[in-house]
Amino acid sequence: MNNYILIIMQTDILVIGSGIAGLTYALKTAQALPHKNITILTKTQSDETNTKYAQGGIAGVTNFENDSFLKHINDTLIAGDGLCNPNVVELVVKEGVDRINELINWGAQFDKELSGTYKLGKEGGHSENRILHHKDVTGKEMERALLESIKKCNNINLINHCFVLDIITQHHLGYLVTKSTPDIECYGVYVLNLATNKIEKIIANITLLASGGNGQVYRSTTNPAIATGDGVAMVYRAKGRIENIEFIQFHPTALYETGVRGHSFLITEAVRGDGGILRNANGEAFMERYDKRKDLAPRDIVARAIDNEMKINGTEFVYLDCRHMNQQKFKDHFPNIYEKCMSIGVDVSKNMIPVSPAAHYSCGGVKTNEFAHTSIKNLYAAGECASTGLHGANRLASNSLLEAMVFAHRAFEDTLKNINNTNFTNNYNEIPDWNAAGTTAPKEMILITQSLKELKLLMSDYVGIVRNNERLQRASRRIDLLHEETENLYQRTAVSPQLCELRNMITVSYLIIKSAQLRKESRGLHFNTDYPSKQTILQNTIL
Ligand code: FAD
Ligand code: SIN
Repeated sequence: MNNYILIIMQTDILVIGSGIAGLTYALKTAQALPHKNITILTKTQSDETNTKYAQGGIAGVTNFENDSFLKHINDTLIAGDGLCNPNVVELVVKEGVDRINELINWGAQFDKELSGTYKLGKEGGHSENRILHHKDVTGKEMERALLESIKKCNNINLINHCFVLDIITQHHLGYLVTKSTPDIECYGVYVLNLATNKIEKIIANITLLASGGNGQVYRSTTNPAIATGDGVAMVYRAKGRIENIEFIQFHPTALYETGVRGHSFLITEAVRGDGGILRNANGEAFMERYDKRKDLAPRDIVARAIDNEMKINGTEFVYLDCRHMNQQKFKDHFPNIYEKCMSIGVDVSKNMIPVSPAAHYSCGGVKTNEFAHTSIKNLYAAGECASTGLHGANRLASNSLLEAMVFAHRAFEDTLKNINNTNFTNNYNEIPDWNAAGTTAPKEMILITQSLKELKLLMSDYVGIVRNNERLQRASRRIDLLHEETENLYQRTAVSPQLCELRNMITVSYLIIKSAQLRKESRGLHFNTDYPSKQTILQNTIL
């Protein structure tokens, strides 16, 4: 295939991903190390990220009159259902405030009261109002501020439409690398540059993985098309450690629109924070039957309650009732939601909003320590692809933007210490070309698109909000078949983003199913009707 002409590029620091984690890290390192060059890769447009779609906001203790670090720590631990690392929770909550202030200094604007203090929202599981937000488009505002700051840094090269295929390790130098190999090292990545359709080799002293989530493995998700778990799959292939990946968070209230599945519009939890009430098909406010915190119980509880109500009533959605809310306040706080609902004929002052749960966030991922180190040397991970220990079995709402910034900062601080101790870029000739022997152009896309449909169906029907042993076993058998067929296709076909994403999603789904089968209990987001109570099982680490 003619796309296997190898181009070599060297960079001091490589960043995979242009969401909040990647951009924060890149900006900080670029400013602190003006003589080093930093390359950011992103597989589509730079702002097409989960970050851009964040609505509710970023949690942080900024009003010490009513709130405290201790309260935010406790709320996070309660939501995490016994699996959070308490040291990590404490450091994220305490350091998070400085990170939020940095974001404000880079130009991000958060809504303020007339008095000049920040307007603080509330979401499920929070005991106080502590969520800073920019109307209902907080992520878009953060992404804007970060990308504008990035543009001012001459030593950052941001490359769009550059699909990372694999992490380069000793394996590519011809050494046997297994899960018990000590000191696996990252030397950079192979990428498919979509602008040239060429495979490139990018060699880096230090790499940060900030490749985001994996919501696309489910049929209905709030995540955009880029969220295919590529980073987790690459680390797994490179024999790095993955942890707690069975904890997939379903957001209770994605907008239900007939025929819309792949990327559902979110109705932020902040709407319930401002008084929105969930009602079933009979108009009953059902949440009080499930939890004393009612509509503002943690997400796992609310999503399961909705799932149950839908099953009892045989419906595909429940309703979010906002008719009693102050309509001017609603339009001011949620202009984006107001407009979207209007565009499909739902006037929130007169009609209830049809909503259903959708895959939203991956709590587990690439295992990292307190300095954002992965188990692979010179490879950091931050943001949604990482498993830091903050979220445990269920993430507290609006804690992920905070976590991404805290760990991007920690990776940055560690980079300052290590950048002069790693120098692989002189030895790039040792790394072989991408091996494309025996591959040809794909003959028919149906082999990829049909497998993708099957994958999403099996993950949604067998590995969703409520699981059991038989469903997981069926899912496991089907994923093995999809894996076998797709590996076969991959060995003989020229690489393309569609094929690589399918392959990565199969790997991530395999890991979710395997971890779900290993967890013989129900905890947080993992609910198995064959093991309905909690056991003393701790983290699930799969190689
Ligand atoms: P992302 O922002 O997803 O960025 C991932 C990047 O990696 C992209 O640039 C992508 O192109 C790149 N990438 C991936 N694979 C490859 C590859 N193979 N090659 C090259 N590049 C690649 N959290 C909150 O705290 N508060 C909220 O209010 C909130 N609201 C949300 C609303 C929605 C609708 C969604 C979907 C999520 C929300 N979240 C919220 C979660 C939060 O937005 C994400 O967890 C967070 O933004 C993830 O940031 P990230 O930097 O890790 O990844
Ligand atoms: C929301 O706005 O409801 C999403 C918040 C989050 O996922 O943290």
